Amino acid sequence: MILEIVQYGHPVLRERCKPVVQVDEALRQLVADMLETMYDAHGVGLAAPQVGVALRLAVVDVSHDPECITFLKVAGIDAPLASIMPLVFINPELEFTGPKERDTEGCLSIQDLRAEVSRPGAVKAKLPQLDGSVLEIETDGLLARAIQHETDHLNGVLFIDRVSPAAKISLRRKLRRLTGGE
Ligand code: NI
Repeated sequence: MILEIVQYGHPVLRERCKPVVQVDEALRQLVADMLETMYDAHGVGLAAPQVGVALRLAVVDVSHDPECITFLKVAGIDAPLASIMPLVFINPELEFTGPKERDTEGCLSIQDLRAEVSRPGAVKAKLPQLDGSVLEIETDGLLARAIQHETDHLNGVLFIDRVSPAAKISLRRKLRRLTGGE
């Protein structure tokens, strides 16, 4: 089922989400619906708060572009990108490894707005899976960026919070328009 994507201005996008403690049928259905919703919206990631659920859960799929990373290690061993796509994770733990890189980001909850965001270029991530296992990966490029962007959502952080102060000023008017102000 395609879910409604919560838009900028909704308070759930600013919540610090609660850890997932139980994986039941309802959660599995939510994950299936989130994947369907993400593909329908042509997004590369979607976090649970974006569909109004304040849980530490997100989905990512960057497999449309195998060139979007330069490496991927799963449990320390080189692995093909397709082997972990779509990526579904709960309660992520991230470590940042690379120097910062700038790239353009957008968000399904902030329509028609894109901006340059500087983030660590690589991550080591512990990504608990629905089956109780923990996927340990190290990667860079768009996958590292998407994992960081979605994990930010779980902490109530949006990409617009991470743009440069100068860029923030030019975003301000557009953001006010999105929330119906001025
Ligand atoms: Ni987003």
